[in-house]
Amino acid sequence: MIGTRIAGLGHYLPERVVTNAELEKLVATSDQWIRDRTGISERRVAAPHETSSSLALKASEIALADARINPEDIDLIIVATTTPDGMFPATASLVQDGLGAANAGAYDVNAACMGFLSALSAATQYIATGAYKRVLVVGAEVLSRILNWQDRGTCVLFGDGAGAVLLEAAEFGGALSFVLHSDGSKKLALYAEGPCGPRDADGNGPPPHLCMINMDGPAMFKLAVQLMSAAVREATAKAGIAIDDIDLLVPHQANMRIIQGVAKSLEMPMEKSLVTVHKYGNTSSASVPIALCEAADAGILKEGQRIALVAVGGGLSWGAMVLEWGGTGVRH
Ligand code: ACO
Repeated sequence: MIGTRIAGLGHYLPERVVTNAELEKLVATSDQWIRDRTGISERRVAAPHETSSSLALKASEIALADARINPEDIDLIIVATTTPDGMFPATASLVQDGLGAANAGAYDVNAACMGFLSALSAATQYIATGAYKRVLVVGAEVLSRILNWQDRGTCVLFGDGAGAVLLEAAEFGGALSFVLHSDGSKKLALYAEGPCGPRDADGNGPPPHLCMINMDGPAMFKLAVQLMSAAVREATAKAGIAIDDIDLLVPHQANMRIIQGVAKSLEMPMEKSLVTVHKYGNTSSASVPIALCEAADAGILKEGQRIALVAVGGGLSWGAMVLEWGGTGVRH
């Protein structure tokens, strides 16, 4: 099998910072409550003209520059998003056009907060089979557009942003294993209806509040800890390594207490977990690539490290990937 390596990374966060103090003016909450229960201090919110494709494009341009790859050399672009610019065309096609990636195919993946890992696992297969040499994988969200800003149980948790990785063929290394899971029977734990849902007898679609993020917070909390820990265990076993062999954990950034719960369940020191939730909140499919990119920028990622990526989200969908870091080509 052909190996894979992440040759370049990029991330982009909208400029506007929304602090907990600002949310105190919108809903009955407090900075103290939000920090204590979630670890979040602030999040980013997209400007009116920004969309998932515009955030994705900025992150992608940085990833390509990092990899020193021309847009024409990309074979495929996969964008993971739950907040596409429209029903169609795919947000990935807008990114393809924006980049001038004239030779790339493009499609979107929607697996909620698991979207990026789902896309990355697909990308590794295209490369491992020799079908493609370079695949751009992006997670991008403008969750602020589907938040109910009157619901204190959800509006304090989420934020906007994008992260991108350029995956390319390598002699060895890359993804050692991945596991993907879904349990659609738990769909009501976290969902947002859309314009194509069922109509009532009068032909009306779902009411607007159901088209925003609806979540059973306490249920999701327990499921998130349990399912992310189980997925890391399964992926490490599949990779033939022990939990102790993991150098770095990149968990989906939903809540600081969830990240701590996963580390505790895995008996892994918290220092091994990347954390960005305090400053960006939950950016759904963008959270894992943003965290990974910040780690690369900080010089934390080292050749040969074993890194576990793990996420859970609406669906339910969850999974993990273990990869051996092969360097970005320019940062070390
Ligand atoms: N400010 C103040 N009080 C609040 C707020 C808020 N923003 N939100 C809820 N409360 C209140 C509740 O109304 C409740 O009050 P009551 O006791 O009078 O009924 C009280 O706080 C406790 O509510 P719980 O929901 O039980 O609080 P909990 O400790 O579970 O924290 C939270 C809520 C933060 C949402 C937590 O359940 C959580 O993080 N769940 C996981 C959410 C998540 O991250 N989901 C996404 C994961 S997957 C993905 O990313 C798609």
